[in-house]
Amino acid sequence: MTSTEMDRPARTSRYVYAVGLVLLLCGLLFGYDQGVISGALGGIKEDFDPSTLVIEIITSWVTLGAMIGALVAGVIADRLGRRWALMLAAAIFVIGTLLEALAPGTVVLTIGRLVLGAGVGIASVAGPLYGSENAAARDRGRMVSLYQMAVTVGIFLAYWANYLLIESSTWRVMLAIAALPAVLLVLAIVPLRDSATWYVKVGRIAEAEDVLRRAEPEVDAGTRVREISEALAADEQADWGEVFSARWRKPLVVAAGLAVLQQLSGINAIIYYANVIFAAAGFDSPTQQSLATLWAVGGVNVVATLVAVFWVDRFGRKPLLTIGSWGMLLSLLLVAGAFFRLDKVTASDAATGQPGNAGHLALVGMVVFIASFAFSLGPIVWTVINEVFPAQVRGKGVATATALNWMAAWLVTQFFLSVVEFTSTSTAFLMFAGFCGVTLWFNARFIPETKGRTLEEVQRMWEDPEELARAIRNRD
Ligand code: BGC
Repeated sequence: MTSTEMDRPARTSRYVYAVGLVLLLCGLLFGYDQGVISGALGGIKEDFDPSTLVIEIITSWVTLGAMIGALVAGVIADRLGRRWALMLAAAIFVIGTLLEALAPGTVVLTIGRLVLGAGVGIASVAGPLYGSENAAARDRGRMVSLYQMAVTVGIFLAYWANYLLIESSTWRVMLAIAALPAVLLVLAIVPLRDSATWYVKVGRIAEAEDVLRRAEPEVDAGTRVREISEALAADEQADWGEVFSARWRKPLVVAAGLAVLQQLSGINAIIYYANVIFAAAGFDSPTQQSLATLWAVGGVNVVATLVAVFWVDRFGRKPLLTIGSWGMLLSLLLVAGAFFRLDKVTASDAATGQPGNAGHLALVGMVVFIASFAFSLGPIVWTVINEVFPAQVRGKGVATATALNWMAAWLVTQFFLSVVEFTSTSTAFLMFAGFCGVTLWFNARFIPETKGRTLEEVQRMWEDPEELARAIRNRD
């Protein structure tokens, strides 16, 4: 900690709260978009009668767009600044939303999903960057948690909109509502400045000092600018070659492995296709399905994320990952078992229109799965990705892991329904359970406990095999 940070009274300025609001809106935008498609699919199917492949494309190409967006976001955020990158993301997002909501057919709808995804991808990198660069060290952790919370609240709000609108099949309205957080994002960011880090990077020192006086009024702006310049000098040594060099292979493997495994656990198959899954579990009416989705997936997700936000620094990353992955594995086995039973249900059983015992078991399994994910893999993967890389390669390392996360999300949402169609629902869930087993092994074998270590200590740990082995065994 620097002397200026130590002298600082623990008070967060109004300016930083305003930055927090921007980050909150980025998370809502991301989350709403993750959740809304689950309710919109029913109406889209009625209007356009698409094949399974087309349904998968409409659902999943938003993640493909986001992957591209995340990859170019770093360059855009460096060239235009974080603030303009976010405005651009919001504008792209609104264009994508309009294309979707007004689409005359599935082609325009798919293009809309791709465009909107690019906006989400840019915001998912530029938002947390803008937030963390504007926060003092003591607020940085809270900023990341705030973002993760906002994503889950966004998913919940989308499910709620789905529930309210489902009977009227107004899928166009469900999708159009997504423009609202984007417009609010622009309104929230217009009165703000860019981050001091970016101003220093492009040599606009007076503006950097001006922001610092607003964000951290109690600190001497000149000293902070010098600190930022020194940190940037260290940051800028690395090029892409170094990110993939043998020296930093271990943190890269940890970050990339967790990013991919988070998605192969099947979380977004459930988030995106929740209504379809509940329909298969015997919840017959669209209202029953969206009610189950709203509370069993959306509500549980928000509450369990809150648990992680409060406990992650007390329990540590590794134990939470272990407990969460076991919970996910066992609950997925339960869901797979329930669907194995449901596949055998006779036509007369199904005709009652009510979920039977197996349907309720599937519901219980999904609740336990979502809760286990939300206090472990959901938030912790992002915490770990942001803390394992040394300063010189952090930006590019985080971008690589984020893009891989989107790519894995695409794989799962693109092929989930096909796997169900060509094998069975229970086989698909068994596969996800298998990947949770891999996560348990990966956690035990590769992930060091980073709780309570400064970023510099984490950096030194990679180059000290004994220390690393102790951290992986989680012994002091
Ligand atoms: C994941 C998202 C997922 C969300 C669910 C996040 O940590 O990265 O893909 O939709 O959690 O809450």
